Amino acid sequence: MSIVFGVILVLHLLGWAIVLGGTLVNLRSGLIATGVLHGALTALVTGLILTVLAGAAATADDQVIWAKMIAKLVVALVICALVWWGGRREKAGTPLVGAVAGLTFVNVVIAVLWS
Ligand code: HEM
Repeated sequence: MSIVFGVILVLHLLGWAIVLGGTLVNLRSGLIATGVLHGALTALVTGLILTVLAGAAATADDQVIWAKMIAKLVVALVICALVWWGGRREKAGTPLVGAVAGLTFVNVVIAVLWS
């Protein structure tokens, strides 16, 4: 793994850690903390950069799983939309905050188990 890929992967994981942590601590209050949108956007952008880098470095034996990337991208876009929409309200509500945490968990499962 190149150092550039590694550094961006660290930022990617930190971004989603912020989203997951930020939503879990606010499940009861139903609030979307300001930093959660920054975390979601950081991970979305770094995910796209990682995909481009992985595509460029792909070999015959080591291909990018495009269906997995599209699945993660769709889930991530839904997360960003929910966070943006919920953050504009005084109170997003526990179901919305829980949905963001749940979808983030789903993407971690896709990222790690789909190979
Ligand atoms: C909720 C959203 C997301 C979560 C929770 C998430 C989580 C993760 C995790 C846990 C890894 C490390 C997996 C491993 O190295 O085995 C990873 C790597 C990666 N992610 Fe994401 N990710 C998300 C969104 C995205 C998006 C939107 C893209 C791009 C379309 C993306 C592209 C990548 C790439 C290219 C890697 C490098 C390793 C691999 O090929 O799987 N991710 N992500």
